[in-house]
Amino acid sequence: MIRRTPRANTFVRIAVLVCAFASLSLIVRELNAQAALTVPAGLPDWAFNIPDKIQPTAVRPEGIVKAPGSAKEYDAATIAGNATPPDWFPDEHPAAPRSVRGDTGIAMACGSCHLMSGQGHPESADIAGMPAEYLIRQMAYYKAGTRKDDARMGPIARAASDDDVRQAAEYFAALKPTVWVKVIETATPPKTFIAAAGRHRQLHPDGGTEPIGRRILQIPADPFRTEIRDPHSGFIAYVPPGSIARGEALVKGGASGKTVQCAICHGEGLKGLGEVPRLAGLQPLYVARQLFDMRYGSSAGKAAALMKAVVTNLAEDDIIAISAYVASLPPQ
Ligand code: HEC
Ligand code: HEC
Repeated sequence: MIRRTPRANTFVRIAVLVCAFASLSLIVRELNAQAALTVPAGLPDWAFNIPDKIQPTAVRPEGIVKAPGSAKEYDAATIAGNATPPDWFPDEHPAAPRSVRGDTGIAMACGSCHLMSGQGHPESADIAGMPAEYLIRQMAYYKAGTRKDDARMGPIARAASDDDVRQAAEYFAALKPTVWVKVIETATPPKTFIAAAGRHRQLHPDGGTEPIGRRILQIPADPFRTEIRDPHSGFIAYVPPGSIARGEALVKGGASGKTVQCAICHGEGLKGLGEVPRLAGLQPLYVARQLFDMRYGSSAGKAAALMKAVVTNLAEDDIIAISAYVASLPPQ
């Protein structure tokens, strides 16, 4: 992968670019403001994959399982936890450090939620090919609690040694992201529900369709393969008609006056620039959740304060459109 700028210059560069914005005073004000850390009630539950109260039968792998194209087999119960992630395609990545693959004393191996490919599931994050410095900084934020995820990344970051964090970050930074989610615009997606096990949205066994409303519905292309953490089986995201074009207009700034151009900091094609993360091809549910979190408070590192200023004018529909658009872009 081509690194476009020397890392050390990134923030200098951002600072210079920020100065070019008409909204500079707004950004400065935001940087000084105390971020509210409570997420207001009423944030859309679709972005957070809250399991449905009534649970139809969901896909649940049992016994010995295999993934198409892999010579390996695993006991479904063993790989369902977080300590021993399956490594279906060991030839497709460099040797994994202990924090990623699991080892004595490591209860939460990164590879279990982010997959050995780094591309993860909608409730975690796609960190494949992200700059190591960016990943290390996020771990420091989680550890300090400035970026909040009390259920998972907070405790994981506090338990990991600096060495483990660096090795994991270097491992994930070296991976090449592939197209992992297919974005489909439709007013009437198939009927789905959120399964309690795995917390993934799945097709409803009753079949049929339902109105999309103002939501992004992200489902595994193949729920069985997602549950066994197959890194070759990605996702489908249903989004409201017109989202991609609307998102593109917002991301490119200009006419709407609502946003600045995201590419100034996130790079051409939103493929990342220096230490600023890639947005292209990320899972739309994750992007929407981050934008809601930044907009309403819970994500607040020093660098993330830049983003808080960027998202401050975004309405819920804007967040849906932007998330749909960036997810539709090729990741590299
Ligand atoms: C139990 C599941 C789980 C495990 C294990 C796990 N993560 Fe995460 N990770 C998550 C979730 C969920 C998020 C999204 C949290 C949020 O919204 O901020 C996340 C987010 C992240 C992010 C932020 C990504 C971004 O683009 O900003 C980084 C970095 C990260 N994890 C690194 C790691 C590393 C390194 C390990 C292993 C030491 C690890 N994770 C293990 C679930 C997990
Ligand atoms: C002034 C520079 C700047 C601009 C403009 C900008 N961003 Fe960012 N963005 C950042 C930085 C820096 C980070 C990483 C923050 C950190 O290190 O914690 C970030 C992080 C993000 C993240 C979190 C990524 C992840 O993996 O968790 C999202 C999503 C995002 N930006 C979306 C956008 C969108 C959409 C726009 C345009 C509307 C935009 N950004 C414009 C600087 C910017």
